Amino acid sequence: QESFFQCFSSHSSQNHSNQTSKVVLTSNTSDYSFVLQSSIRNRRFLNTSTPKPEFIVTPIHTSHIQSAIICSRKHGFQIRVRSGGHDYEGLSYVADVPFLIIDLFSLRSISIDIQNGFAWVESGAILGELYYKIAEKSNLHGFPAGTCSTVGVGGHMSGGGFGTLLRKYGLAADNIIDAKMVDVNGKVLTRESMGEDLFWAIRGGGGASFGIVVSWKVRLVAVPETVTVFRSVPYTMELGGTKLLQKWQNVADKLHEDIFLHAILVVSDSSSSASNYGTGVQVQFLCLSLLEVQKLASLMQHSFPELGLKPQNCTEMTWIQSVLYFAGFSTNESLDVLLDRSTQFKGFLKAKSDYVVEPIPEAGLEGLYKMLIEEQTSMMILTPYGGRMSEISESEIAFPHRKGNLYKIQYLVTWDDEDETDKYIGWMRRLYGYMTPYVSKNPRAAYFNYRDLDLGKINNNNGNTSYEQAKVWGFKYFKRNFNWLVYVKTAIDPSNVFRNEQSIPVLPSQL
Ligand code: FDA
Repeated sequence: QESFFQCFSSHSSQNHSNQTSKVVLTSNTSDYSFVLQSSIRNRRFLNTSTPKPEFIVTPIHTSHIQSAIICSRKHGFQIRVRSGGHDYEGLSYVADVPFLIIDLFSLRSISIDIQNGFAWVESGAILGELYYKIAEKSNLHGFPAGTCSTVGVGGHMSGGGFGTLLRKYGLAADNIIDAKMVDVNGKVLTRESMGEDLFWAIRGGGGASFGIVVSWKVRLVAVPETVTVFRSVPYTMELGGTKLLQKWQNVADKLHEDIFLHAILVVSDSSSSASNYGTGVQVQFLCLSLLEVQKLASLMQHSFPELGLKPQNCTEMTWIQSVLYFAGFSTNESLDVLLDRSTQFKGFLKAKSDYVVEPIPEAGLEGLYKMLIEEQTSMMILTPYGGRMSEISESEIAFPHRKGNLYKIQYLVTWDDEDETDKYIGWMRRLYGYMTPYVSKNPRAAYFNYRDLDLGKINNNNGNTSYEQAKVWGFKYFKRNFNWLVYVKTAIDPSNVFRNEQSIPVLPSQL
C-alpha cells in the first residue's frame, strides 16, 4: 500500500499530489465499503464472496487517472473503471485477479453551450444530470440517451446508448463529436490526438478495452416546446394483445421517425395493479412523439388503427417532463430527482438481448407467453428501430445494429432471494434458447450495453486473449466491426492492459 501511495502522489500533478489519501481508498478507509457499494446496481455482485478491489481510486482531477493507470501497471493490478455501475455483469467493479477500481463519480461536471448546440460532459455524470443541465438552459434542446436517470455517461455512451429519441436522432454514441481520454501510458488524448480509428472505436465498442474516457463532447438535438406522450392500457394476450403485438411488429419500425412506440410485455398476477385488465401475460404500448397531438393521432389512425390512439388519450408535456415520465417519476416532481444517483432498483437481475429482423409468428408468440408465465417477475422490452437508425451505416461507428432490424428485445428477470439465483438464470437461458428460431442469425446479434457473459468470455487471468474465443461474442455485439476493433485495440494497447472478461483482444502476434 505504502509503495502504491508513493507512486500515486509522485505521478499526480503538483497541485493534486497532496490529495492521495483522500482519493485512494483501501479496505481500512472508512468510506471504502460505502463507495464500493453505492453504485452496484445488481445484487448478484454485492455479497461477501464477491472479490473486492485492493484500492478504489476516486479521481477529482485527470492527473489522478493518469497516476492510477501508471501505478496499477507498476504494481500489477488490473484496472476496472466505473462511471455509473450499471454493467449487468458487474465488470466495472469485480475481477477475479488483484485489481483496483477507478471510480469516476466525482468527475461529473457538465458544461452546456446552447448557442453552439453542444455540451461537454464528464464520464462520471449520470444521464439525469445531463438532462437536468440541458433543461436548465433550454426547453428546445435535448439529448438522445437512455431513459434510466442513474445510468452513467461513461459506460453508456461508449457502448451505444439509446432512449426515446432513438428513431429521430440515433444513439448517444452517434452524437459524440469529441472526447478526452487517458491511454495505457497515462497520456491524455483528444479526438485530434487519438486519431479517427480510436475515436471510432470508443463510440459503441465500449471504452474499457481502450483506456479511460474522461469526458465527451456531445451534439445537443432539437426538441419541440411540447412533446406528446401516450400509454395504452395493458392488454392480455387473449383480449387482443396478440393481435396488437403482431401489428406492432409490422409497423413500429416504419412509423414516422418522430414517433417512438415501445412495447412492453409483463406478467400480471392477481396481486398486480394491472390485474384489473386481466391476469397472465400482458402487452402495453408506450409512446413518445415529437409531433403535436392531432398529427400523432392522425398518423397512428392511418398506420395502426387497431391501437385506437385518440387525442384525448395523449398528454402534452415538455421534453424534460417526458424524461421524468419515462424514468418512472411523476411529471410534477421536482427535476432534482434526476440528480439522485441512488433512486433506482437494486435487486438481483439477469438480462439478455436479441435483434428481430422478421416478425415473430403467432405460434412463436404463444410459446413465448407460456415461458414468461413461468416467472412472474420477467419482462420483455421491445424497442422499435427504423428511422434514423436505418440511415446510419453499420460501420459509421463501432455500434453496428442498423438497417434491417425491426426491433430489439431486452429480456429481464429479477428476484429477491440469493438462493434462487441459479433457478432464475437457468430460466433465462431456456427462454433465450426458445427464442433462437425467431431472432437474428449468423451472428445472433446482441447489444453490448446489455452485457451478457453467457455469450462467452475470455480468460482474464493471464492476460493472453484468444481472438478465436473472443470472436464468438465479439461478432454478436459488433458484427464485422469486431475485426476493426481488434486492429484498433492492438495499436493502442498492445500489451492488453485494459482487459476484462469481454474486452477486445489483441492480435496474437503482438502478445
Ligand atoms: P459501468 O460503470 O458499470 O460501466 C459499464 C462498462 O463501461 C464497464 O465495462 C466499464 O468498465 C466501462 N466504463 C465505464 N466508464 C468508463 C469510462 N469512463 N471509460 C472507459 N470505460 C468505461 N442502456 C441503454 O442504452 N438505454 C437505457 O435506457 C438503459 N437503461 C438501463 C437501466 C438500468 C437500470 C440498467 C442497469 C442499465 C440500463 N442500460 C440502458 C444499460 C447501460 O447503458 C449500460 O449498462 C452501461 O454500460 C452503463 O454505464 P455505466 O457507466 O452506468 O456502467
